[in-house]
Amino acid sequence: MPISLKTAADIDGMRIAGRLTSEVLDMLAEHVKPGVTTDHLDKLCHDHIVHVQKAIPAPLNYAPPGYTPYPKSICTSINHQVCHGIPNDRPLKNGDIVNIDVTVIKDGWHGDSSRMFVVGEGSIAANRLCNLTFEAMWKGIVKVKPGARLGDIGHAIQTFAETQGFSIVREFCGHGIGRKFHEEPQVLHYGRPGTLEELQPGMIFTIEPMINAGRREIRELGDGWTIVTKDRSLSAQWEHTVLVTDTGYEVLTVSDGTPKPPAFAGA
Ligand code: MF3
Ligand code: CO
Ligand code: CO
Repeated sequence: MPISLKTAADIDGMRIAGRLTSEVLDMLAEHVKPGVTTDHLDKLCHDHIVHVQKAIPAPLNYAPPGYTPYPKSICTSINHQVCHGIPNDRPLKNGDIVNIDVTVIKDGWHGDSSRMFVVGEGSIAANRLCNLTFEAMWKGIVKVKPGARLGDIGHAIQTFAETQGFSIVREFCGHGIGRKFHEEPQVLHYGRPGTLEELQPGMIFTIEPMINAGRREIRELGDGWTIVTKDRSLSAQWEHTVLVTDTGYEVLTVSDGTPKPPAFAGA
């Protein structure tokens, strides 16, 4: 299956789905505090997506080959959890870091974005990891333009993270997105410049680096979903859905509350 190129009408649909996705994260921000459970955050998102946005939370019952259906509407990955953490009844504690990953389907189109939240007051190390991972995502985004290659994105993210002593998770990657949650291509967060697929206007994919404070190795928990660092070091992730335009990129998962791009991305 080749990489789909979205038409102008498709892109209109993806912009709407992307904005709704980002607005779920905006809505959630004030609720992420010590004592709140991730089950509560999941319910807030589910109700907002279904009843306010009249949309569908893509994770709920999502079942790729070899997986049991995902039981919740968002992913909440805390501290040494890398991704796909399942909301539960344990309260968040002061100093936890949590990735909240939201995917909304509107009129058949998917938006996919995640942000890190620091619960209460985080340690210097935790804040540094979250900020560095945000910048790493943007190091990849700014590479997006026609004629660039997927390897350029991966290389930019990898060199940025590794030169500061952090490691990149290899087993999970960004992905094409559109009418399906996960489409071609795979967007690796490591690699060599000038390699892999050449970017063309109309491609839409996510960039979603998972970066560990310690070693890059991971393992899956017995729930069949949650991924954790093997050495139990902290892990962070940020995700945007990005369109290749005629001249560069457009981030589709934007709303009033989207964290502003770093200075190196320009205004
Ligand atoms: N949102 C994740 C991604 O960025 C995928 C989560 S799959 C789920 O690709 F089933 F766990 F929700
Ligand atoms: Co994604
Ligand atoms: Co996601």
